[in-house]
Amino acid sequence: MGNRRIAVFGAGYIGLVTGACFAKLGHEVVVRDIQDERIAVLRGGGVPIHEDGLAELIAQNAERLTFTVDAQEAVRDAEVVYVCVDTPTTPSGDADLSRIWQVLDSLHGARHLAAVVVKSTVPVGTGARVRAAMDSAGLHAVGYAANPEFTAEGRAVQDFLHPDRVVIGSDDPDTTKLVAQLHDGVDGPVVEMDVASAEMVKLAANALLATKVSFTNEIATICEATGADVERVVGAVGLDHRLGPHFMRAGLGYGGSCFPKDSRALRALSGNAGYAFQLISSVIEVNDLQPRRAIQRLKEELGGFQGRTVALLGMAFKAGTDDIREAPSTIIASRLQAEGASIRCWDPLVRALDGAPWSSTTRCPSPLEAMDGADAAVVVTEWPQLQELAWDEAAAVMRRPLLFDGRNLLDPVQMGAIGFTYMSVGRSTVRGTA
Ligand code: UDX
Repeated sequence: MGNRRIAVFGAGYIGLVTGACFAKLGHEVVVRDIQDERIAVLRGGGVPIHEDGLAELIAQNAERLTFTVDAQEAVRDAEVVYVCVDTPTTPSGDADLSRIWQVLDSLHGARHLAAVVVKSTVPVGTGARVRAAMDSAGLHAVGYAANPEFTAEGRAVQDFLHPDRVVIGSDDPDTTKLVAQLHDGVDGPVVEMDVASAEMVKLAANALLATKVSFTNEIATICEATGADVERVVGAVGLDHRLGPHFMRAGLGYGGSCFPKDSRALRALSGNAGYAFQLISSVIEVNDLQPRRAIQRLKEELGGFQGRTVALLGMAFKAGTDDIREAPSTIIASRLQAEGASIRCWDPLVRALDGAPWSSTTRCPSPLEAMDGADAAVVVTEWPQLQELAWDEAAAVMRRPLLFDGRNLLDPVQMGAIGFTYMSVGRSTVRGTA
């Protein structure tokens, strides 16, 4: 009962949010990471990632929140170990679980351990393997639970504290009860089930959301070919309460740390079981093509990219985050370079980036500077700053007022009135009237 001592392994987006939120709920939390610099920043009062409300939460609960690189220090007094390490994809499409095994290897020094809880996204069946590994390490008395996360970046703190549901998968009622109690104070229903089903919920939920995005992008393509307007179509379709308006924004495709990885993981999981999950394969293919189609349309409008300058407005995979993992911007920048274009890019949060394609782009401090002298601009991320921009000034500084709005952020009529040739996703191209 009451407050517990929790060791969170992994100080990434999920681990930090989980640790800070559990500290807010009154638990004693130690967050452990293998990266010295990351822990040094946290110990110094800094936060190594941008997540709305996280820095405040960490500061407000500092007396119940410590950080370490020492696994033994983390587990020594822990009653619950939360595994929030990353599980990157291997060449075979399976998840690399080595970091989870490393956490298990460090549990021998734990004196009060009651449960190990895995929050990392893992293939269905991982829990059973972890359980077996714990048993052979003599940890029979320690419970195991899967507690998948459904938090979206940019609103992860909010999602953790006010979730649609908390899913707890365990084959042991005491462990389920313990993990449920850790969430006392969280404003959302607890759904209890077996471990394998809990692992599947995460993959199925993300796959269905990704499917909605790819479906909408398919409809957008048909709208372009037929003269319909995807925004009007989706606005009306989403009013059907059985469908809802969410995840039906047409654009450059989904990115981030979850959808691309989880949809591929589900495809690999099905393939390993001898089943060809064709629907998820199509969802992935549509998403892969989406940024390429945009570049092709822009290329046709511009008459080729060789020797041209293109401004990329936004690099993050979505607004509200500094995360660039699997962002469409990377594919777009890389494709544009392959076609011979020079790139000027802007993003309000993404920090300096090394490596291709970014090392050979010009980073600009504002959208207007990025568009200065450009032959075309692409809205890649739906940053609100772009909605509020003085687009008439942008038109004046560009060599040619050509904009591809990859997020349907702006009003076609207004952009046309300013003088832009305005292209977007699933809507007719507007040619400047100014
Ligand atoms: C997602 C899930 O929402 C979350 O539950 C899970 O735990 C992790 O994956 P996140 O990756 O942070 O969260 O981003 P989300 O806001 O869901 O968007 C995912 C991607 O889909 C983004 O690239 C976004 O731009 C794109 N998207 C989303 C669309 O293109 N259209 C939409 O209508 C919605």
